[in-house]
Amino acid sequence: MNSARNCQGGKQLPLKSRITGTGSYAPERVLTNFDLERKVDTSDEWITGRTGIKERRIAKDTEATSDLCLEASKNAMKAADVTSAEIDLIIVATMSGDMPMPSTASLLQKKLGAKNAGAFDVNAACSGFLYGLSVADNFVRGGSAKKVLLVGAEVMSKFIDWHDRTTCVLFGDGAGAVVLEPARGQHGILSTHLYSDGNMWDYICLPGGGSLNPPSAKTVKEKMHFVKMKGNETFKVAVRTLERLVIDTLKKNKVKPSELAMLIPHQANLRIIQATAERLKLPMSKVAVNLDRYGNTSSASIPIALDEVVRAGRIKKNDYILLEAFGAGLTWASALIKW
Ligand code: UT7
Repeated sequence: MNSARNCQGGKQLPLKSRITGTGSYAPERVLTNFDLERKVDTSDEWITGRTGIKERRIAKDTEATSDLCLEASKNAMKAADVTSAEIDLIIVATMSGDMPMPSTASLLQKKLGAKNAGAFDVNAACSGFLYGLSVADNFVRGGSAKKVLLVGAEVMSKFIDWHDRTTCVLFGDGAGAVVLEPARGQHGILSTHLYSDGNMWDYICLPGGGSLNPPSAKTVKEKMHFVKMKGNETFKVAVRTLERLVIDTLKKNKVKPSELAMLIPHQANLRIIQATAERLKLPMSKVAVNLDRYGNTSSASIPIALDEVVRAGRIKKNDYILLEAFGAGLTWASALIKW
């Protein structure tokens, strides 16, 4: 790492982590708003108007989160030209893993045959991918990992009460993956920012199945194994928090909103995304939106959107890309990347 390319004016360029490949995967089955009209008291008009969602993907009964991870990972590793044996760390961001133990990352490691990789999960709900990105970035910059596979993946459909119209219309299944590698220079992840306020833990939660409410006939009867959300309260905090977060992230990097090439937000609600874009005075053409097709895929939403914009050629070298998310915890997070 001491070639002339790594030096500028005799000084060694800073070590960063760079995304060298992206990939995504969504299950085949499509569930539209019109399909949901037949299941619960809702309408395409309400869902589209309040959220922007038109349809979402639903995993098969036999498909688990690690299966979605595997497909997204294969695509990201192909794009990065990296083999399973070269991966030295696997991080899966998820709140809907295959099982509480072992980690979904370990199950993915087996499926990939990535025998040289350590593996663990990160759970920060919808902010999970950016929490994982921050962890992966620190491993790479610290020199203890050279090729990290980071996946955000969810099978939300198995944790949703399909009789509860306030949540079942919102979520979908999917996975997105990136490969991170070290690079010296100005390109790569410039900064990551993680926040949490556990005082609002009950705004979005899945209260059953853990040590507080272990699985029992009572927890099943009380539907404690499904996602609960105080939607409107969460919405208000999300809008306020994300507006501040994106401005602060740019300020810390001395980047003006007008210099941004692309905003890749978590895909929970089009109105939240629009409010953030307005705060940045960013036209929607510079905002990645795919919740109309996938709904809210929690920790998978950002890497799926990133993969889509990369493959569509919507970002190019030297572009500033801002990523932001908000979710259960409550947690929120951002990252600024120079592509
Ligand atoms: O990803 C993690 C972070 N999550 C978020 O950021 C989600 C934030 N929240 C939201 O996106 C929105 O709050 C929702 C889309 C969940 C709800 O939209 P809202 O504008 O906040 O609606 P609301 O909860 O205030 O409900 C308005 C009305 C209620 O009826 P009443 O009390 O006014 O008669 C609800 O019962 O809409 C009713 N409603 C529905 N109607 C038809 C709630 N869900 C539905 C539905 N179809 N699916």
